[in-house]
Amino acid sequence: MNRSIEAIKEAALRELASAGTPDAVKALSVRYLGRKGAVTRFLRNISALPAEERPRAGKEANAVKKALEATFADAEQRLAEGAGAADDAIDVSLPGRPATPGRRHPVTLISGEICDIFARLGFDIVEGPEVEKDYYNFEALNIPKNHPARDMQDTFYVSDDVVLRTHTSPIQIRTMEKQPPPVRIVAPGKVYRCDSDLTHTPMFHQVEGLLVDRNISFGDLKGILTAFVHQMFDDRTALRFRPSFFPFTEPSAEVDILCVMCRGEGCRVCSRTGWLEVLGSGMVHPAVFENVGYDTSEYTGFAFGMGVERIAMLKYGIDDLRKFFENDYRFLRQF
Ligand code: DAH
Repeated sequence: MNRSIEAIKEAALRELASAGTPDAVKALSVRYLGRKGAVTRFLRNISALPAEERPRAGKEANAVKKALEATFADAEQRLAEGAGAADDAIDVSLPGRPATPGRRHPVTLISGEICDIFARLGFDIVEGPEVEKDYYNFEALNIPKNHPARDMQDTFYVSDDVVLRTHTSPIQIRTMEKQPPPVRIVAPGKVYRCDSDLTHTPMFHQVEGLLVDRNISFGDLKGILTAFVHQMFDDRTALRFRPSFFPFTEPSAEVDILCVMCRGEGCRVCSRTGWLEVLGSGMVHPAVFENVGYDTSEYTGFAFGMGVERIAMLKYGIDDLRKFFENDYRFLRQF
């Protein structure tokens, strides 16, 4: 016996490394493990060893035999599986595909732009939870249980008194609970309504605004919103305030802007009216102040809320709300 079992094993593995097909591995297996194979011959020759060496040599040789059997079987299978892939193997001579960097979603961009404008007007940016207590989403905003005004917003209920917030207005309450006046905040975020058709998605985005201080009047509301619209669109964009109703403001107004597409001529986007509704607003209702313990004889304030998708559609001239949610890269890459 002139070759040790270790040397045989090493030789087998060395040869295996250059075996490129399942057949080559099979042939190798026969040469080492077959009836006349090197390992088999080694095992057969053990009886010629001195009696005291036989047990150890036998044990080692059997271990090598087992290990090689497993390794050969593995290699054969791996090569057999790989064979099918040879046709579409990677062509390393082709130029690489450029990695396209990510970019911000248009809704994120516009939401950021809205907040930036208000930040320059002295507003802080705050956030609140999307899973909200009924109390913050409705009750504290002067919308009691069973009040018909709840029908204005189709609500996803998590439980009896927990909802997915239907608007960003609950952040008004959370902010006022935490601090005394003055307050000057905008609050961007996702909101949810049980509603889905061409112009409604179950999730969309809003930015809320709230300003509370001494001597705040409807004139301040008009001034701030006019400054906002002129910066968001341009200063030829006229605004009009239409009387409206929200339970948490009194008086309430909806704000229209002169149609950015036709400049008031009347077109498809503004349904021939020349005006586009962009937000809801009003003077904070005293009942809301009472809910957070603000002194209504000393403080007044205004609030407003706008839909981000709506502003983005007008700003970018997009006519289909669904484009924001399909995540088609050809659409998204334009912003
Ligand atoms: N929360 C209202 C909605 O989602 C929008 C709104 C209207 C917010 C008037 C306000 C406001 O803060 O004063 O329809």
